This record gives sequence, structure tokens and C-alpha cells, in this order.
Amino acid sequence: MDTLASYDELPYDSLPLPETQPDVIAAVARLHGFDAPDPTRARILELGCAQGGNLIPLAWRWPACECVGIELSRVQAAAGAEFVTRLGLPNVRILHGDLAALPDDLGEFDYIIAHGVYSWVPPAVQQALLDACRRHLSPQGLAYVSFNVAAGWAPLAPLRAALRVRTDAALPAPARCRQALRVLDELAVEWTDAALQKEIAYLRSASPSYLFHEYLAEFNEAIDFAAFAARLDRHALRYVGEAGPRRAVVELEDAWGLSPEGMAGRWHEAEAALDEALGTRFRRALIARADAECAQPPQAERLASLAFYADLTSDEEIDLDAPTEQTFVNPAGNRFAVAEPAMKAAVMALSMVYPRALTHGALLDAARDVMAGCGAAGGLDAMALQDALFRLVVAHGVMPTVWMGAAAGEPGERPAAHALARLQATLPGWVVGGTRHVALDLDAAGRELLACLDGTHTQDALSARMHASLRRAGLDLPRAHVDALTAQQLWQFARQGLLIG
Ligand SMILES: C[S@@+](CC[C@H](N)C(=O)[O-])C[C@H]1O[C@@H](n2cnc3c(N)ncnc32)[C@H](O)[C@@H]1O
Repeated sequence: MDTLASYDELPYDSLPLPETQPDVIAAVARLHGFDAPDPTRARILELGCAQGGNLIPLAWRWPACECVGIELSRVQAAAGAEFVTRLGLPNVRILHGDLAALPDDLGEFDYIIAHGVYSWVPPAVQQALLDACRRHLSPQGLAYVSFNVAAGWAPLAPLRAALRVRTDAALPAPARCRQALRVLDELAVEWTDAALQKEIAYLRSASPSYLFHEYLAEFNEAIDFAAFAARLDRHALRYVGEAGPRRAVVELEDAWGLSPEGMAGRWHEAEAALDEALGTRFRRALIARADAECAQPPQAERLASLAFYADLTSDEEIDLDAPTEQTFVNPAGNRFAVAEPAMKAAVMALSMVYPRALTHGALLDAARDVMAGCGAAGGLDAMALQDALFRLVVAHGVMPTVWMGAAAGEPGERPAAHALARLQATLPGWVVGGTRHVALDLDAAGRELLACLDGTHTQDALSARMHASLRRAGLDLPRAHVDALTAQQLWQFARQGLLIG
């Protein structure tokens, strides 16, 4: 096949995806007793990389890495290659090609990422994807393969069926999406099922590319975990763990004395049962070669070998004396309840140094310091903290990592942003990502400000420029207000690791 028309017509929003960061993958693997290669000098392959919005920032972050992206949509691959050329980045290539016909000379990779691909391609390409993982993974390498799960998708099957039947498959993708929106309006009136109503409401505001590729495209196979594990087996691959956030993890009882393989068998059965119990809809599976060590269910004791980062805030006055449940929120709006006082102190400590990470030992010390500084009555209960940290790591309120990252810079008198962020801000269709691989929600003024941070303009000149630009857009704010907004935005860039010098 030469290209994929649907993705040429309706390119996928190509975003940085935090769970695909090799430092996070390596940390998750370690929780499962699996030692992955050093992500900072790894070879990284992304299959179905769209325009490279996920891969290019990884190459930028780690100059000693070598990154290759493969993308079948000619339009997306060309946009990615052009971006790399403009950035002058030597350690990443975005290649137009079919993952089912990879070049012979690609070699081995320590990390292979395939997000949003496996469920959405025909069976022969699914096989080719797993084949590519087996052929191109280094001995301790890890692949990240996300897929839709049958347990959560079964209740939504009528919605996909109705949207496919009631829209015209011959229309170009954008026109078919518009037709689908009209069908959603009709279904919102016709159907009463609460779960379907909730999904209809979500789809009415979702991006057209999501609507198209999940609900209208020809392929969207939702798979049982057990069936997926069996497919891995047939390709001499094995499940290592889950890279995405989870509400619960498997804890095996009576597992003493089992061989690693015996334990893995029991664990995989429990994972399938968990999907049924929770109605799991999506999995981000980490996979290794079957001849590598056999991974185990995650264990809280292994947290001690990791580092952590978090960007959480709370509207509440944090009570470090009592185990009252309090809510922390991350920038994506996800909410995390924390009761253990030492964990609240740890969250505060991590958020203070974000985007830098703290090792486990440094986190305990920092939590103690926060508690002492706030005059908390009790001491730090290390076991209670370990339990609470494990739960928060599993839910991705606190992210595990093996890469410490750098401390945030400060805006300075003449702020300068790094070249990747400035180019992302300049080009329409590119999302600006923070140093921890989070997509930033910037409006036009924020993008304009970031794009002109070349270190030559004073903060005052930048604010004057923002003032004029907002006025042209019909927003006539007092200059003092724009000064404050500009300063606030610059500090946000600094916190996200976008500023240099
Ligand atoms: C749903 S998008 C996901 C894009 C990106 N991985 C992400 O998560 O943002 C699936 C991508 O896989 C690409 N794709 C589909 N079949 C492919 C194939 N056989 N070889 C290479 N890329 C393919 C599509 O063009 C599309 O860009």
C-alpha cells in the first residue's frame, strides 16, 4: 500500500504521550522485576508514528538516543520529516513506509512504541506488528503496544455499528465525520442506555480524528487480554506489565513456591478477570522477548529502586496531621484522593521540584522536611507511605521514572525558549509539549509568545507585543493586566522546562 487516505485526509492529533516515555516504561518494568535498557542512550522505534509528535521530543530530550519513526500516511510522514529538517535534529528519522514491510537494515531497538495502531489495522498488519517486535527488540528491549479491550468495548458495539451503518463509507473522512455528528444528535434522542448516552455526549465534543478512527474506520478490534497474551506467545513474546494508569492491580495470594512461569500464568488469568470486573476499555501493554526474564506482578517494595515526579495541586488546605482524604489534581484535570499525611507531604515535595524527579530516598527526606516545616505532629510512617505511593504510582498521580530530568529554569530578563518548543509553537498542527512529555493547552497568544522567545526581547517588550496582538484580536486589556498574564505564562513555560539559560 502506498499511503493511508483516511489519515492523509484527517491527520491524527500527533501528541506527546506520557506513558510511552522510555524512562517511564523502564520504571514500570522495574516494578515488575524486569530490567530494561538505559533509556537515555537507547535506540527507539515508533510504528505508526503519525507526524512524529511523540517521537521527535524524545529524540530532542536525549541526544545520545537514535530514533526511527515509521508512518504509512504519506502526508503525516512528510510533515514529520520536514519538521525534523527544520529543527536540524540529527538523531531522529521519520520514514514513510509500511510497518508490515520494514527495511531490512533497521537493526535492534531497546524500545518499540506502537500507540493506537494494533486494534486499528487489518489482521495481517497486526501479525506483522508483533513480528516486527520480535525481530527488532534487543534482548532486554521493551515494546509498548496499546489496544482496545473487549470487556469495555462490548457495551459500545451498538454505537459503532449504528454510526457505520448510518453514514456513507464512500465519503471522504471529514465529510463522513460531519454526517456522524448528525447521527449522534439523532441517537441522543432515540437511545436511553446511560453508558451509550455518556459516550454519545463525549463523541459530540471529541476530535474528528478520534470519532473517525474509533467509530467509523473499517478496523477496530477489541481483544480479550487472554487472546492478546496467546498472540504474544505465538510470536515468542511475553507480557511484562501495564504502562497506563490503573484503578487496581493484580495481587496474587498463595503464590509462594511457584516457578516464574507458573506465577506468570496465574497472573495473566487474574489480569483477564480484572478487565471483566473493571470494564477495561484500553490497555497499554509492555512486551518483551519470550527469551528475556519472566516479569511478575508489580510489587510495592520495588519502588525503592525508582525515582518519581508529579505536578499536582490542591484547592484545599492540606492537613498533615490527620489521615483525612484530600484531593489533588494534575494539569489534565485528573483527580487523586490522598489520605496518608506523609503521602500528602511527598506530593507537595514532588510538585515543588517538578519537572525534576526525586529518588525514593530523597522523596522520603523531602516529605519529612515538609512535615517538619509545617509543624506536623506525627512522624513519617514509611510503610504507610510505601502503600500510598504504590497506589498513586499505579493511578499515575505520581509518575515513576529512571530519568531525573532537570530543574525548571527561570524566565530571566530576556527569556529564551528551546528551539523545539519555539518550532512547535510556530507551526499549526503541532502541539507544544513540556519536558515531561505533557501536551500543553496553549491559546493563540501563548503560542505567539513562546514562538518569539529567542532571548533578544525583554519581558517588557514581550508584554507590549502581547498587548498589541490581543488588541488586534479585539481584546483590549489594561497594560498592567497583560504584564501579569505575560509573566504568568512565562513562569508556566519555565515550569514545563521550555526555557533555557
Ligand atoms: C490512530 S493513529 C495513532 C498515531 C500515533 N501513534 C498516536 O498515537 O498519536 C494510527 C497511525 O498508524 C498509522 N498506520 C496505520 N497502518 C500503518 C502501517 N501499516 N504502517 C505504518 N503506519 C500505519 C496511521 O497512518 C496512523 O498515523
